[in-house]
Amino acid sequence: MAGAVISELPTVLTTAELCERWRCTPRTLERMARDGRIRRVKLRGGVRYPTDEVLRIEQGEDRPAVQRVAEAQAVYAVLDVPRENPLLHRARETGSQQAASDAMLKIAGSNGPLREVATWWLLNRLSNSWADHNLRAALKVTGIYDPDAIKLEEVVTPKPPANMPELSIAEIARLTGSAARGKEISTRCLMCHAIGGTGAELGPALDGWGRGKSPEVIARAIVTPGAEIAQGYDATELKTTDGLTIQGLLIKEGDPLMMRSQGGITQIVPAGRVASRRRMPGSLMMSAAQLGLTAQDVADLIAFLRAE
Ligand code: HEC
Repeated sequence: MAGAVISELPTVLTTAELCERWRCTPRTLERMARDGRIRRVKLRGGVRYPTDEVLRIEQGEDRPAVQRVAEAQAVYAVLDVPRENPLLHRARETGSQQAASDAMLKIAGSNGPLREVATWWLLNRLSNSWADHNLRAALKVTGIYDPDAIKLEEVVTPKPPANMPELSIAEIARLTGSAARGKEISTRCLMCHAIGGTGAELGPALDGWGRGKSPEVIARAIVTPGAEIAQGYDATELKTTDGLTIQGLLIKEGDPLMMRSQGGITQIVPAGRVASRRRMPGSLMMSAAQLGLTAQDVADLIAFLRAE
């Protein structure tokens, strides 16, 4: 199933077929369905996933929160859209790893939405089955990854000033919010969250997140982000040998590592440049007060997120 071209796909997939395609467990699909991230239909024989829905997710408009699954999906999306990419089409037809690697290099060297995942995919193949495809040299020539020339950038989530008063959850819950205003305010979240298909992916995509949640629960997530960390979003802090601090999500282990930080910045970090590394206790998210939000702003955001 994995790798079938679009025209060969049936109109619906079974749980087993989708699990095989996405290399995920049925539990992941359950969780996605429960969170409203994937639509499915009940047929007599059990649940089915409409193929157009599967492709929509793979094409990255609404990638699921669990990063590992999202990455695998996007890679499969790339490999499964032969018509849009003649190189990949050739890779599919000939089964040639070299052709697939050429195509991935093109995508990783572009500025498209799949750039990060294509880079991730290539770097993961540096030290295993693809080591003999001269990938290391190709990554260097294309400027995607040259360990000797790489320039790293410091990225940290500012700490809240000690005297900054927190917004009151009780007060926010008493206010009436406007979803339209909340939508406007939500542009401040895009440096870290995807909403409606745009925005960075440092935190989970927020579409559908607030549906069915109480105003208090949503308010707490925005006012005190560190109180509870969304699953799969533990923060890592690297210190480099030249004294830079990079905070973000560690999306690839080994040599090199990959770190995704706020503002859509993903950096490739040669293992030799890492002086120390720790799991951060708090969240990479800035609090409502730090983002300059008032209680009314948060109430508006709540109205927007619940209506999404
Ligand atoms: C500087 C980056 C950053 C900004 C800005 C930011 N967030 Fe977040 N947010 C995160 C990260 C990272 C997480 C996951 C870690 C956590 O749960 O704290 C998160 C988690 C969340 C969660 C909890 C999701 C869950 O599944 O539990 C909600 C809700 C949320 N953010 C809403 C917002 C809203 C609304 C805004 C804009 C007002 C916003 N965030 C701005 C980084 C950010």
